[in-house]
Amino acid sequence: MSDISPQSFLRHWRGPIEETLKKYLESPAPALHRHYGMMEYHMGWVDSEMAPRIRSAGKRLRPTLLLLVCAAMGHDPEPALAAAGSVEILHNYSLLHDDIEDLDEVRRHFPTVWKVWGNGKAINAGDGMYACAFKAMLGLQDAGVALDLTLQSLSLLSWACVQLTEGQFLDLDYEDRDHLTLGEYIFMVKKKTSALFSICLEVGALLSLCEKRTRLLFSQLGEHFGVAYQMLDDVANLWGEMDETGKTSCKDIAQRKKSLPIVLAMNDAEFGACMRRLYALDINQDIAQPVLELLHRQGIREQCLGILGQRRELMQALIRELRSETRANASADLSSMEAYLDSLLTLPATV
Ligand code: IPE
Ligand code: IPE
Ligand code: MG
Ligand code: MG
Repeated sequence: MSDISPQSFLRHWRGPIEETLKKYLESPAPALHRHYGMMEYHMGWVDSEMAPRIRSAGKRLRPTLLLLVCAAMGHDPEPALAAAGSVEILHNYSLLHDDIEDLDEVRRHFPTVWKVWGNGKAINAGDGMYACAFKAMLGLQDAGVALDLTLQSLSLLSWACVQLTEGQFLDLDYEDRDHLTLGEYIFMVKKKTSALFSICLEVGALLSLCEKRTRLLFSQLGEHFGVAYQMLDDVANLWGEMDETGKTSCKDIAQRKKSLPIVLAMNDAEFGACMRRLYALDINQDIAQPVLELLHRQGIREQCLGILGQRRELMQALIRELRSETRANASADLSSMEAYLDSLLTLPATV
């Protein structure tokens, strides 16, 4: 693996990942083409007229990570493709519903599914994707994966779904809170974002026949990465260009989301009370400018990056442990996966 860079890995596997996704989201009958068409639109394969068109699709991080773990453990990623498709379909279900829950009108530079087709059909399309994620995981059987490994992967997927919806509940519930601790924020993020990343790495390790201890380390690595990734997304929402994020800037403030910068500001000894007062103002009041000014005065962006740095150190410690744990496996090489994780936690130049 050491001669395979994350870029060449991505180039090689992007096609098979897309084919797998299409296989599990394929419409079975003409009468259902518009139902599956909404999913295809969300996946970036068709436009809102449902005509084939390359649109900006997601980054496919989760399936790539799952397959990268297999490669890192010296295993052929091919039989794990159905699992890779499954986690990406589940992620996309969660975003489709998240946009309804967050009232977001733009995703990946295009109108969201609910904005184009209305809430009813959008909720149902999301439910369809949720079910297809389980169908895809069961597809491991077709690739000759042993039944117990398939069932364990399915069980991890169910666990991630439960965590994800608990996390989404907390995220929404926190909108009405006038104060939140960093601990409460991390508890929520571990559920809404980390749980799925965590099982991506764990399923990759499971399908590579890793020992329980190694699987646990991968799962913990995924959890830390998920926290760091969501923190970065929170920072990008406030200071990123729409060109970069594909979403409306400062939407988190408009919705009184307790994102990382806000939580840090609310807990600041000097300015915390001021931030809490601003956030308590009527939801219809546009507070983006004063909030951004306060964050700037408090140096919150830099504090966020500091906290992110701490998470990266925890990840590095786990990667060191993984290296020593897998020393006996001569074909194991974590360098590509490490480089990929690292590249995903680098802030775009515009943020
Ligand atoms: C967005 O995830 C939601 C978060 C967990 C922050 P991604 O950044 O992986 O979204 P896409 O699929 O690439 O658009
Ligand atoms: C991401 O949460 C959605 C899930 C983790 C399910 P956010 O609401 O913070 O992410 P974006 O910014 O809309 O992608
Ligand atoms: Mg959202
Ligand atoms: Mg959300």
